[in-house]
Amino acid sequence: MTAQMDDIAEILLAPEEIAAKVQELGGLVAAAYQGQDLVLVSVLKGAVVFLTDLMRAIPLPLAIDFLAISGYGTQGGAGVVRILKDLDEDITGRHVLVVEDIVDTGLTLGYLLRALQARQPASLRVCTLLDRSVRRIVDLPLAFRGFDVPDRFVVGYGLDYQQRYRNLPFIGVLKPEVLERRGRTR
Ligand code: IMP
Ligand code: MG
Repeated sequence: MTAQMDDIAEILLAPEEIAAKVQELGGLVAAAYQGQDLVLVSVLKGAVVFLTDLMRAIPLPLAIDFLAISGYGTQGGAGVVRILKDLDEDITGRHVLVVEDIVDTGLTLGYLLRALQARQPASLRVCTLLDRSVRRIVDLPLAFRGFDVPDRFVVGYGLDYQQRYRNLPFIGVLKPEVLERRGRTR
C-alpha cells in the first residue's frame, strides 16, 4: 500500500466519514423500501465496494445484481454506451435502486436508466455515494446522495484510475504528476 499511498495528494473522505454516510444512506433506503421487493443494481466495477457496505446497512430482504457497461465513448463524440454484461434478475414489476459510485456528467447513468426503465420496474431510483454536480450535463434525479465532490479526479473505495487504487479504504485525490505521467489531464 505504500506505493499507492505515495500517489495520493490529499484524502478527501476518511474511512470513518464514508462509513457514517453509508449507515445514514442505508437507514434512508430502508425507510423508503419497507415491505417492497427491492433489487439493488450496481454497475461494475467502481460501485462494488459501496454496494457491499450499503447492503449491510439495509435491514430488509433484498436482492443484488450487477451489470457492466462500456465506458462512455469520447472517441468520435458519438457517446455510445453498451451493456457488456446484463442483469441476471428480471426487474419487471420490482423496485430497483441503482447503486453508483459517482455521478459525473450523468451521461452513463442517463443511458442506463433509460435502458432499465424499458423493462418496466415498479420504481427506479438512484443511490450514489458521490455526486460531482458541477460537471453534470444530463439532469438526473438522485434520490439518495452521499457527498458532493469537487471537480478533481478521485480514487479509492472502489474508484479507480486505470484499474488501480480501488482497494484504498479512503477517497482521495491523485497527485497531478500521476495523472500526467499516465496521460490524463483532469
Ligand atoms: P459520467 O457518465 O460522466 O457520469 O461518468 C460516471 C462514471 O465515470 C463513474 O461511474 C465512474 O466509473 C467514472 N468516473 C467519473 N469520475 C471519476 C473519478 O473521479 N474517479 C474515478 N472514476 C470516475
Ligand atoms: Mg462507475
